[in-house]
Amino acid sequence: MKALVVYDSAYGNTKQVAEAVAASLGPLQAHAVSVTDFKAPVLAEGDLLVVGSPINGWRPTPKIAEMLAALGGGQLHGVKAAAFDTRVRLFIHGDAAKKMTEILKAAGAEIVSKPMAFYVKGSEGPLRSGELEKAATWAGDLLKRAGR
Ligand SMILES: Cc1cc2nc3c(=O)[nH]c(=O)nc-3n(C[C@H](O)[C@H](O)[C@H](O)COP(=O)(O)O)c2cc1C
Repeated sequence: MKALVVYDSAYGNTKQVAEAVAASLGPLQAHAVSVTDFKAPVLAEGDLLVVGSPINGWRPTPKIAEMLAALGGGQLHGVKAAAFDTRVRLFIHGDAAKKMTEILKAAGAEIVSKPMAFYVKGSEGPLRSGELEKAATWAGDLLKRAGR
């Protein structure tokens, strides 16, 4: 069993969260990879896939949406999965993590967490204080739910 954290990131905030999550998924030899380097066939039965995206216009980025669209047809059967987004704390901010979670489920994955949100102070960041610690805690929960 191994874990992969796939992310897109324009200003580095989502990348920072992805790397914090991967670091705390250490027992699964996790690593964070940019969506541009992700190859779906590297996933096997029982592996954990975490997908992270900034919210862009109430949805995941086009690159993440494209990657997820290519995972149709039950390709994630047997894979455990979870999704997170980064967002600004606006009254109306939309949701990307929920949409990504639904797509991962439709691709056959076993969802091991509710959609997760991490907050930035402005479009370019930085992350609000405590968000990287929150990422480490969330990753610990993922480890437990993924069976480790
Ligand atoms: C084109 C664009 C659209 C955005 N739309 C939203 C949005 O709908 N809701 C929201 O909460 N944040 C929105 N944001 C803020 C992003 O969530 C923020 O830039 C992101 O979390 C930063 O992550 P990154 O450094 O990994 O790119 C938007 C940012 C950009 C650049």
